[in-house]
Amino acid sequence: MEVYKGDEIYSESSEQVVCKVDHEIEPESSEQPVYKNESDSESSEQEVNPWEVSTKDGGKIDYDKLIDKFGCERVDESLINRVQRLTCRQPHVFLRRGVFFAHRDFNEILDAFERGDKFYLYTGRGPSSEALHLGHLIPFMFTKYLQEAFKVPLVIQITDDEKCIWKNLKVADTKKLGRENVKDIIACGFDITKTFIFSNFEYLGGAFYENVVQVGNCITLNKAKGIFGFSGEDHIAKISFPPVQAAPSFSSSFQHLFPGEENLRCLIPCAIDQDPYFRMTRDVAPRLGYSKPALIESSFFPALRGKSGKMSASDPNSAIYVTDSAKDIKKKINGAVSGGQDNKDDHKKYGANLEEDIPFKYLSFFLENDSELEHIKKEYGEGRMLTGAVKKRLTEVLIEIVERHRRARAAVTDEMVNAFMAVRPLPSMFE
Ligand code: TYM
Repeated sequence: MEVYKGDEIYSESSEQVVCKVDHEIEPESSEQPVYKNESDSESSEQEVNPWEVSTKDGGKIDYDKLIDKFGCERVDESLINRVQRLTCRQPHVFLRRGVFFAHRDFNEILDAFERGDKFYLYTGRGPSSEALHLGHLIPFMFTKYLQEAFKVPLVIQITDDEKCIWKNLKVADTKKLGRENVKDIIACGFDITKTFIFSNFEYLGGAFYENVVQVGNCITLNKAKGIFGFSGEDHIAKISFPPVQAAPSFSSSFQHLFPGEENLRCLIPCAIDQDPYFRMTRDVAPRLGYSKPALIESSFFPALRGKSGKMSASDPNSAIYVTDSAKDIKKKINGAVSGGQDNKDDHKKYGANLEEDIPFKYLSFFLENDSELEHIKKEYGEGRMLTGAVKKRLTEVLIEIVERHRRARAAVTDEMVNAFMAVRPLPSMFE
């Protein structure tokens, strides 16, 4: 199966894979972390890092192995129940259905919340394309839920600098894409009284930059090579970037939001590809006298079709974008990879292979009604429901989401973008 990550689409198949370990940092040690190199014994059959998600021979991403290798923990039933108890509301579907499947110290955030201690949320977006696809919306939809459920402030970093460095885009172009992406982010429904969105090109300086330099002082080039796989051919702008993504994890980077608050806890929702940045951040935090940021991490949203090989997102039929029309969505879903059998008789006899079925996977992300999903799972899995009916239901669900997003985005003005990005105090951010 393929997954979307960033602007590329990656493929998975059902074969067992071994996790690549070269970009690894020993997770919880504040001492010198242990690194492994590409040449190390375990093969490079699976690679997940901020700029590449791939598996050997288009194999399936093994998320259990990722958890083991990265050293994070699985989100389990008791943690989800605890979230429900503490927030007095039903946990978000992405939590109930295991989309956000891994964490670091999320339980400690919940302990703090239970004691009445405060924390803040931090997430981000690298603006390399104008239109976002559904996969990009996942961390933002989930972050909005966390903001509402815990009543906490949120900072959103727009890494226009990162995309200028990695995608070789012009400064002015990434800044422009950043502002366009901010409109999509605002359209997810964030509360302006609790949310600060910033562009690195605009905001870097002051206490934020002091933290960037302090983080950089804790990381040698060898260490950065171990975590991110940099080589001697990489421009030095790349090598100096990771501390910029680390700095928002420390509350002292935002003097206008948290004056005098050196050590407010931070929770970062993101997809698991971003984990290397934050393993690095957690490693250096104690040395700077800061608490380690906690993380809650999602798997990747699968791509529409094709079982083998890597597909480019430049193929407009492989991803659903928030700018797609109802007609586009219908057509794309009709072409999605199905786990249904080739003919009706076989389908009735054997049922659909839900593991391979993209429309069913999508429904499990976006169909909110648990009992309806359960019903489809049973009926389709046992062959009584046909592929066409599942695709039809998914088309309705996605058209509604995309239409809602389009309406919300159309209402976002340039003034609203400026207002969310203004460097200002947020007086009622914990209420
Ligand atoms: P970027 O722009 O590549 O991706 C933005 C966010 O979306 C997640 N994501 C996905 N989630 C689920 N399914 C997918 N198919 C999918 N594709 C991307 C990413 O993990 C990310 O959470 N360097 C970052 C920007 C950044 C950031 C952060 C992200 C800066 N600070 C803090 C998270 C937290 C980037 O280029 O993300």
